Amino acid sequence: MANRMTLNETSYHGKGAIEAIVDEVKSRGWSKALICTDPDLIKYGVTSKITDLLDKATLPYELFSDIKPNPPIENVLSGVEAYKKAAADYIIAIGGGSSIDTAKAVGIIITNPEFADVRSLEGVAPTRNKCAPIIAVPTTAGTAAEVTINYVITDQEKKRKFVCVDTNDIPVISCVDPDMMMSMPASLCASTGMDALTHAIEGYITKGAWEMTDMMHLKAIEIIGRSLRDSVKGDAAAREDMALGQYIAGMGFSNVGLGIDHSMAHTLSAYYDTPHGVACAIFLPTVMEYNAEFSGEKYKYIAQAMGVKNTESMSQAEYRKAAIDAVKSLSKDVGIPQNLKDIVKEEDLDYLSESSIADACAPGNPRTVSKEDVIKLFKSLL
Ligand SMILES: NC(=O)c1ccc[n+]([C@@H]2O[C@H](COP(=O)([O-])OP(=O)(O)OC[C@H]3O[C@@H](n4cnc5c(N)ncnc54)[C@H](O)[C@@H]3O)[C@@H](O)[C@H]2O)c1
Ligand SMILES: [Fe+2]
Repeated sequence: MANRMTLNETSYHGKGAIEAIVDEVKSRGWSKALICTDPDLIKYGVTSKITDLLDKATLPYELFSDIKPNPPIENVLSGVEAYKKAAADYIIAIGGGSSIDTAKAVGIIITNPEFADVRSLEGVAPTRNKCAPIIAVPTTAGTAAEVTINYVITDQEKKRKFVCVDTNDIPVISCVDPDMMMSMPASLCASTGMDALTHAIEGYITKGAWEMTDMMHLKAIEIIGRSLRDSVKGDAAAREDMALGQYIAGMGFSNVGLGIDHSMAHTLSAYYDTPHGVACAIFLPTVMEYNAEFSGEKYKYIAQAMGVKNTESMSQAEYRKAAIDAVKSLSKDVGIPQNLKDIVKEEDLDYLSESSIADACAPGNPRTVSKEDVIKLFKSLL
Protein backbone atom coordinates (compact mmCIF):
# COMPACT_ATOMS: atom_id res chain seq x y z
CA MET A 1 0.00 0.00 0.00
CA ALA A 2 1.24 3.50 -0.78
CA ASN A 3 2.31 5.79 2.05
CA ARG A 4 0.25 8.93 2.60
CA MET A 5 1.69 12.23 3.85
CA THR A 6 -0.51 15.11 5.01
CA LEU A 7 1.10 18.36 6.18
CA ASN A 8 0.09 22.02 6.63
CA GLU A 9 -0.52 23.94 3.45
CA THR A 10 1.88 26.64 4.72
CA SER A 11 4.02 26.82 7.83
CA TYR A 12 6.26 29.58 9.18
CA HIS A 13 9.20 28.87 11.46
CA GLY A 14 11.44 31.00 13.63
CA LYS A 15 11.26 34.34 15.40
CA GLY A 16 8.68 36.63 13.85
CA ALA A 17 6.64 33.75 12.37
CA ILE A 18 3.43 35.14 13.90
CA GLU A 19 3.76 38.33 11.84
CA ALA A 20 2.76 36.32 8.77
CA ILE A 21 -0.77 36.00 10.16
CA VAL A 22 -2.02 39.41 9.03
CA ASP A 23 -1.03 38.98 5.37
CA GLU A 24 -2.31 35.40 5.29
CA VAL A 25 -5.73 36.46 6.62
CA LYS A 26 -5.97 39.37 4.19
CA SER A 27 -4.87 37.40 1.15
CA ARG A 28 -7.29 34.57 1.89
CA GLY A 29 -10.17 37.00 2.40
CA TRP A 30 -11.20 35.65 5.81
CA SER A 31 -13.34 38.10 7.69
CA LYS A 32 -13.62 37.22 11.40
CA ALA A 33 -11.62 34.92 13.67
CA LEU A 34 -12.65 32.90 16.66
CA ILE A 35 -9.52 32.76 18.83
CA CYS A 36 -9.32 29.46 20.73
CA THR A 37 -7.00 29.76 23.71
CA ASP A 38 -6.81 29.15 27.47
CA PRO A 39 -7.14 31.43 30.52
CA ASP A 40 -3.47 31.24 31.60
CA LEU A 41 -2.28 32.32 28.17
CA ILE A 42 -4.51 35.38 28.42
CA LYS A 43 -3.22 36.05 31.97
CA TYR A 44 0.46 35.76 31.00
CA GLY A 45 0.11 37.97 27.92
CA VAL A 46 0.83 35.22 25.39
CA THR A 47 -2.47 35.47 23.48
CA SER A 48 -2.13 39.25 23.32
CA LYS A 49 0.95 38.90 21.12
CA ILE A 50 -1.46 37.84 18.38
CA THR A 51 -4.44 40.04 19.27
CA ASP A 52 -2.12 43.08 19.24
CA LEU A 53 -1.23 42.24 15.63
CA LEU A 54 -4.90 41.81 14.71
CA ASP A 55 -5.87 45.05 16.46
CA LYS A 56 -3.16 46.98 14.66
CA ALA A 57 -4.38 45.62 11.33
CA THR A 58 -8.06 46.16 12.35
CA LEU A 59 -8.85 42.49 11.73
CA PRO A 60 -11.95 41.48 13.74
CA TYR A 61 -12.01 38.54 16.16
CA GLU A 62 -13.84 37.11 19.16
CA LEU A 63 -12.07 35.38 22.07
CA PHE A 64 -12.97 31.89 23.30
CA SER A 65 -10.62 31.32 26.19
CA ASP A 66 -12.23 28.65 28.39
CA ILE A 67 -10.09 25.73 27.22
CA LYS A 68 -8.81 23.37 29.93
CA PRO A 69 -5.77 21.07 29.82
CA ASN A 70 -6.82 17.57 28.64
CA PRO A 71 -9.82 19.35 27.06
CA PRO A 72 -13.24 17.83 27.84
CA ILE A 73 -16.12 17.36 25.39
CA GLU A 74 -17.87 20.36 27.01
CA ASN A 75 -15.06 22.64 25.79
CA VAL A 76 -15.72 21.55 22.23
CA LEU A 77 -19.46 22.09 22.57
CA SER A 78 -19.06 25.60 23.98
CA GLY A 79 -16.45 26.37 21.30
CA VAL A 80 -18.91 25.44 18.56
CA GLU A 81 -21.48 27.78 20.11
CA ALA A 82 -18.90 30.56 20.42
CA TYR A 83 -17.93 30.17 16.74
CA LYS A 84 -21.55 30.43 15.63
CA LYS A 85 -22.33 33.35 17.95
CA ALA A 86 -19.27 35.24 16.72
CA ALA A 87 -20.26 34.61 13.07
CA ALA A 88 -16.61 33.69 12.55
CA ASP A 89 -15.30 32.19 9.31
CA TYR A 90 -11.91 30.94 10.55
CA ILE A 91 -10.12 30.01 13.77
CA ILE A 92 -6.83 31.10 15.26
CA ALA A 93 -5.75 28.47 17.79
CA ILE A 94 -3.21 29.83 20.27
CA GLY A 95 -1.87 27.46 22.88
CA GLY A 96 -0.58 24.03 23.58
CA GLY A 97 -2.15 20.82 22.35
CA SER A 98 -5.28 21.45 24.40
CA SER A 99 -6.22 24.69 22.61
CA ILE A 100 -5.23 23.47 19.17
CA ASP A 101 -7.03 20.12 19.61
CA THR A 102 -10.20 21.85 20.79
CA ALA A 103 -10.02 24.19 17.79
CA LYS A 104 -9.75 21.19 15.46
CA ALA A 105 -12.83 19.52 16.95
CA VAL A 106 -14.77 22.79 16.78
CA GLY A 107 -13.69 23.36 13.17
CA ILE A 108 -14.70 19.83 12.16
CA ILE A 109 -18.16 20.06 13.76
CA ILE A 110 -18.83 23.43 12.15
CA THR A 111 -18.44 21.93 8.67
CA ASN A 112 -19.64 18.40 9.54
CA PRO A 113 -22.56 19.04 11.93
CA GLU A 114 -23.64 15.39 11.91
CA PHE A 115 -20.73 14.81 14.35
CA ALA A 116 -22.00 17.40 16.86
CA ASP A 117 -22.12 14.83 19.68
CA VAL A 118 -18.24 14.84 19.56
CA ARG A 119 -17.92 11.19 20.71
CA SER A 120 -18.69 9.92 17.20
CA LEU A 121 -15.45 11.57 15.99
CA GLU A 122 -13.32 8.96 17.81
CA GLY A 123 -10.90 6.98 15.65
CA VAL A 124 -10.96 7.61 11.92
CA ALA A 125 -14.23 9.49 11.50
CA PRO A 126 -15.76 9.59 8.01
CA THR A 127 -16.11 13.37 7.86
CA ARG A 128 -16.74 14.71 4.37
CA ASN A 129 -15.68 18.34 4.61
CA LYS A 130 -12.48 20.16 5.47
CA CYS A 131 -12.81 21.81 8.87
CA ALA A 132 -13.25 25.56 9.23
CA PRO A 133 -9.84 27.03 8.34
CA ILE A 134 -7.39 27.09 11.25
CA ILE A 135 -4.25 29.10 11.81
CA ALA A 136 -2.41 27.26 14.59
CA VAL A 137 0.11 29.00 16.83
CA PRO A 138 1.74 26.58 19.31
CA THR A 139 2.88 27.98 22.67
CA THR A 140 4.43 24.73 23.94
CA ALA A 141 7.19 22.77 22.20
CA GLY A 142 5.69 19.34 22.44
CA THR A 143 2.49 18.08 20.90
CA ALA A 144 3.01 19.42 17.35
CA ALA A 145 -0.79 19.56 17.17
CA GLU A 146 -0.30 22.41 14.68
CA VAL A 147 0.87 19.91 12.03
CA THR A 148 -0.88 16.69 13.01
CA ILE A 149 -4.08 15.16 11.71
CA ASN A 150 -5.04 14.12 15.26
CA TYR A 151 -6.79 15.64 18.19
CA VAL A 152 -7.44 14.23 21.64
CA ILE A 153 -10.56 14.97 23.69
CA THR A 154 -11.45 13.84 27.22
CA ASP A 155 -14.73 12.11 28.00
CA GLN A 156 -14.97 13.01 31.69
CA GLU A 157 -18.08 10.92 32.21
CA LYS A 158 -16.32 7.74 31.02
CA LYS A 159 -12.94 8.81 32.43
CA ARG A 160 -11.16 8.30 29.12
CA LYS A 161 -9.45 10.31 26.44
CA PHE A 162 -10.19 9.54 22.83
CA VAL A 163 -8.04 10.14 19.79
CA CYS A 164 -9.58 11.41 16.56
CA VAL A 165 -7.66 10.92 13.33
CA ASP A 166 -8.87 12.94 10.37
CA THR A 167 -6.97 14.58 7.51
CA ASN A 168 -9.81 17.12 7.29
CA ASP A 169 -8.74 18.65 10.60
CA ILE A 170 -5.21 19.76 9.73
CA PRO A 171 -4.58 23.48 10.26
CA VAL A 172 -4.14 25.24 6.92
CA ILE A 173 -1.40 27.45 8.35
CA SER A 174 0.88 27.08 11.32
CA CYS A 175 3.14 29.75 12.79
CA VAL A 176 5.80 28.11 14.93
CA ASP A 177 7.33 31.10 16.66
CA PRO A 178 9.72 30.47 19.57
CA ASP A 179 8.76 33.83 21.10
CA MET A 180 5.33 32.32 21.83
CA MET A 181 7.09 29.62 23.90
CA MET A 182 9.53 31.73 25.92
CA SER A 183 7.14 32.16 28.86
CA MET A 184 6.86 28.40 29.49
CA PRO A 185 7.95 27.58 33.06
CA ALA A 186 10.74 24.98 33.29
CA SER A 187 8.44 22.11 34.28
CA LEU A 188 6.12 22.69 31.29
CA CYS A 189 9.08 23.03 28.96
CA ALA A 190 10.43 19.71 30.27
CA SER A 191 7.21 17.74 30.07
CA THR A 192 6.17 19.01 26.64
CA GLY A 193 9.70 18.44 25.33
CA MET A 194 9.59 14.85 26.57
CA ASP A 195 6.22 14.46 24.81
CA ALA A 196 7.96 15.48 21.60
CA LEU A 197 10.77 12.98 22.22
CA THR A 198 8.16 10.28 22.81
CA HIS A 199 6.51 11.16 19.47
CA ALA A 200 9.85 10.90 17.72
CA ILE A 201 10.79 7.55 19.28
CA GLU A 202 7.36 5.92 19.04
CA GLY A 203 6.91 7.29 15.51
CA TYR A 204 10.32 5.89 14.52
CA ILE A 205 9.59 2.34 15.68
CA THR A 206 5.84 2.21 15.00
CA LYS A 207 4.52 -0.45 12.59
CA GLY A 208 3.79 2.02 9.79
CA ALA A 209 7.19 3.77 9.87
CA TRP A 210 8.96 4.18 6.51
CA GLU A 211 12.04 5.88 5.16
CA MET A 212 10.64 9.39 4.86
CA THR A 213 9.22 9.46 8.39
CA ASP A 214 12.36 7.75 9.75
CA MET A 215 14.32 10.72 8.44
CA MET A 216 12.02 13.11 10.29
CA HIS A 217 11.99 11.18 13.53
CA LEU A 218 15.76 10.74 13.70
CA LYS A 219 16.28 14.44 13.04
CA ALA A 220 13.74 15.27 15.73
CA ILE A 221 15.48 12.97 18.25
CA GLU A 222 18.80 14.64 17.43
CA ILE A 223 17.42 18.16 17.93
CA ILE A 224 15.55 17.31 21.12
CA GLY A 225 18.51 15.32 22.50
CA ARG A 226 20.87 18.27 22.03
CA SER A 227 18.51 21.08 23.10
CA LEU A 228 15.95 20.02 25.68
CA ARG A 229 18.22 20.42 28.73
CA ASP A 230 19.19 23.99 27.80
CA SER A 231 15.67 24.84 26.72
CA VAL A 232 14.42 23.88 30.19
CA LYS A 233 17.06 26.24 31.63
CA GLY A 234 15.52 29.03 29.53
CA ASP A 235 18.19 29.33 26.83
CA ALA A 236 16.60 31.18 23.88
CA ALA A 237 18.50 29.38 21.10
CA ALA A 238 17.63 26.00 22.60
CA ARG A 239 13.94 26.95 22.82
CA GLU A 240 14.03 27.90 19.14
CA ASP A 241 15.65 24.54 18.37
CA MET A 242 12.95 22.72 20.35
CA ALA A 243 10.20 24.56 18.45
CA LEU A 244 11.61 23.06 15.28
CA GLY A 245 12.38 19.61 16.71
CA GLN A 246 8.87 19.04 18.02
CA TYR A 247 7.36 20.17 14.70
CA ILE A 248 9.54 17.77 12.71
CA ALA A 249 8.46 14.93 15.03
CA GLY A 250 4.84 15.93 14.31
CA MET A 251 5.39 15.82 10.54
CA GLY A 252 6.42 12.22 11.00
CA PHE A 253 4.23 10.65 13.68
CA SER A 254 1.04 12.27 12.46
CA ASN A 255 1.40 10.26 9.27
CA VAL A 256 2.43 6.90 10.70
CA GLY A 257 1.05 6.66 14.23
CA LEU A 258 2.49 6.05 17.69
CA GLY A 259 2.35 3.15 20.16
CA ILE A 260 1.48 1.86 23.60
CA ASP A 261 3.31 4.65 25.47
CA HIS A 262 0.74 7.14 24.18
CA SER A 263 -2.12 4.74 24.86
CA MET A 264 -1.06 4.40 28.50
CA ALA A 265 -0.43 8.15 28.74
CA HIS A 266 -3.92 8.97 27.44
CA THR A 267 -5.40 6.64 30.03
CA LEU A 268 -3.32 8.09 32.86
CA SER A 269 -4.29 11.68 31.97
CA ALA A 270 -7.98 10.84 31.66
CA TYR A 271 -8.03 9.04 35.00
CA TYR A 272 -5.75 11.21 37.16
CA ASP A 273 -5.50 14.41 35.08
CA THR A 274 -1.73 13.93 34.76
CA PRO A 275 -0.19 16.40 32.26
CA HIS A 276 0.21 14.64 28.92
CA GLY A 277 3.97 15.14 28.60
CA VAL A 278 4.66 13.92 32.14
CA ALA A 279 2.63 10.77 31.46
CA CYS A 280 4.45 10.06 28.18
CA ALA A 281 7.85 10.64 29.74
CA ILE A 282 7.32 8.36 32.76
CA PHE A 283 6.47 5.44 30.46
CA LEU A 284 9.10 6.04 27.80
CA PRO A 285 12.16 4.06 29.03
CA THR A 286 9.97 1.17 30.23
CA VAL A 287 8.09 0.99 26.93
CA MET A 288 11.40 1.20 25.03
CA GLU A 289 12.66 -1.82 26.99
CA TYR A 290 9.43 -3.68 26.23
CA ASN A 291 9.73 -2.93 22.49
CA ALA A 292 13.50 -3.42 22.15
CA GLU A 293 13.33 -6.93 20.66
CA PHE A 294 10.90 -5.69 18.01
CA SER A 295 12.90 -2.75 16.77
CA GLY A 296 15.70 -4.36 14.73
CA GLU A 297 18.69 -2.02 14.54
CA LYS A 298 16.69 1.10 15.22
CA TYR A 299 17.88 1.64 18.80
CA LYS A 300 21.42 2.02 17.43
CA TYR A 301 20.27 5.05 15.44
CA ILE A 302 18.25 6.37 18.38
CA ALA A 303 21.38 6.12 20.55
CA GLN A 304 23.44 7.92 17.89
CA ALA A 305 20.84 10.67 17.55
CA MET A 306 20.85 11.06 21.34
CA GLY A 307 24.61 11.70 21.17
CA VAL A 308 25.90 8.27 22.30
CA LYS A 309 29.41 7.60 20.93
CA ASN A 310 30.97 4.39 19.58
CA THR A 311 27.68 2.65 18.84
CA GLU A 312 29.26 0.85 15.87
CA SER A 313 31.43 -1.19 18.24
CA MET A 314 28.51 -2.10 20.51
CA SER A 315 26.58 -5.37 20.49
CA GLN A 316 22.85 -5.23 19.88
CA ALA A 317 22.14 -5.55 23.59
CA GLU A 318 24.65 -2.78 24.36
CA TYR A 319 23.28 -0.22 21.91
CA ARG A 320 19.72 -0.96 22.93
CA LYS A 321 20.64 -0.34 26.55
CA ALA A 322 22.59 2.78 25.56
CA ALA A 323 19.54 4.25 23.78
CA ILE A 324 17.28 3.57 26.77
CA ASP A 325 19.87 4.94 29.23
CA ALA A 326 20.27 8.13 27.19
CA VAL A 327 16.51 8.71 27.30
CA LYS A 328 16.39 7.94 31.04
CA SER A 329 19.18 10.35 31.81
CA LEU A 330 17.56 13.17 29.80
CA SER A 331 14.26 12.54 31.54
CA LYS A 332 15.95 12.67 35.00
CA ASP A 333 17.98 15.76 34.12
CA VAL A 334 14.86 17.73 33.20
CA GLY A 335 13.07 16.71 36.40
CA ILE A 336 10.49 14.16 35.24
CA PRO A 337 9.23 11.76 37.97
CA GLN A 338 10.71 8.31 37.39
CA ASN A 339 7.76 6.18 38.53
CA LEU A 340 4.00 6.18 39.09
CA LYS A 341 4.08 5.78 42.88
CA ASP A 342 2.41 9.11 43.57
CA ILE A 343 -0.13 8.77 40.76
CA VAL A 344 -1.51 5.26 40.23
CA LYS A 345 -3.49 3.14 42.69
CA GLU A 346 -3.08 -0.62 42.30
CA GLU A 347 -6.86 -1.22 42.39
CA ASP A 348 -7.24 0.90 39.21
CA LEU A 349 -4.88 -1.28 37.14
CA ASP A 350 -7.57 -3.43 35.57
CA TYR A 351 -9.47 -0.44 34.20
CA LEU A 352 -6.27 1.37 33.20
CA SER A 353 -4.99 -1.54 31.13
CA GLU A 354 -8.37 -2.20 29.46
CA SER A 355 -8.57 1.44 28.52
CA SER A 356 -4.97 1.52 27.23
CA ILE A 357 -5.55 -1.48 24.98
CA ALA A 358 -8.68 0.18 23.52
CA ASP A 359 -6.78 3.40 22.69
CA ALA A 360 -6.31 4.27 19.00
CA CYS A 361 -2.50 4.38 19.32
CA ALA A 362 -2.14 0.79 20.60
CA PRO A 363 -2.30 -1.02 17.22
CA GLY A 364 0.70 0.97 15.99
CA ASN A 365 2.99 -0.46 18.68
CA PRO A 366 5.75 -2.58 17.10
CA ARG A 367 5.06 -5.42 19.54
CA THR A 368 1.50 -6.73 19.78
CA VAL A 369 0.32 -5.80 23.25
CA SER A 370 -1.93 -7.79 25.56
CA LYS A 371 -3.81 -6.54 28.60
CA GLU A 372 -1.53 -8.66 30.81
CA ASP A 373 1.53 -6.98 29.28
CA VAL A 374 0.10 -3.55 30.03
CA ILE A 375 -0.63 -4.52 33.63
CA LYS A 376 3.01 -5.65 33.96
CA LEU A 377 4.25 -2.38 32.45
CA PHE A 378 2.18 -0.35 34.93
CA LYS A 379 3.25 -2.57 37.85
CA SER A 380 6.93 -2.19 36.99
CA LEU A 381 6.56 1.54 37.66
CA LEU A 382 4.70 1.29 40.98
N1 LIG B 1 -3.02 16.66 18.38
C1 LIG B 1 -1.99 15.92 18.62
O1 LIG B 1 -1.38 15.38 17.70
C2 LIG B 1 -1.52 15.75 20.02
C3 LIG B 1 -0.28 15.13 20.27
C4 LIG B 1 0.13 14.98 21.58
C5 LIG B 1 -0.66 15.44 22.62
N2 LIG B 1 -1.87 16.02 22.35
C6 LIG B 1 -2.76 16.52 23.42
O2 LIG B 1 -2.36 17.86 23.77
C7 LIG B 1 -2.69 18.10 25.14
C8 LIG B 1 -1.48 18.60 25.88
O3 LIG B 1 -1.02 19.81 25.33
P1 LIG B 1 0.26 20.59 25.92
O4 LIG B 1 1.15 19.61 26.56
O5 LIG B 1 0.81 21.40 24.82
O6 LIG B 1 -0.31 21.50 27.09
P2 LIG B 1 -1.73 22.23 27.28
O7 LIG B 1 -2.21 22.85 26.04
O8 LIG B 1 -2.63 21.29 27.99
O9 LIG B 1 -1.31 23.39 28.30
C9 LIG B 1 -0.91 23.08 29.63
C10 LIG B 1 -0.77 24.36 30.45
O10 LIG B 1 0.36 25.08 29.97
C11 LIG B 1 0.06 26.45 29.84
N3 LIG B 1 0.89 27.05 28.78
C12 LIG B 1 0.91 26.69 27.47
N4 LIG B 1 1.83 27.46 26.81
C13 LIG B 1 2.37 28.30 27.71
C14 LIG B 1 3.34 29.33 27.63
N5 LIG B 1 3.95 29.65 26.49
N6 LIG B 1 3.64 30.02 28.76
C15 LIG B 1 3.04 29.70 29.95
N7 LIG B 1 2.11 28.73 30.09
C16 LIG B 1 1.78 28.04 28.98
C17 LIG B 1 -1.41 26.47 29.49
O11 LIG B 1 -1.98 27.70 29.82
C18 LIG B 1 -1.95 25.31 30.32
O12 LIG B 1 -2.30 25.76 31.61
C19 LIG B 1 -3.19 16.79 25.71
O13 LIG B 1 -4.60 16.78 25.75
C20 LIG B 1 -2.67 15.77 24.72
O14 LIG B 1 -3.43 14.56 24.70
C21 LIG B 1 -2.28 16.19 21.08
FE1 LIG C 1 1.94 13.23 22.79
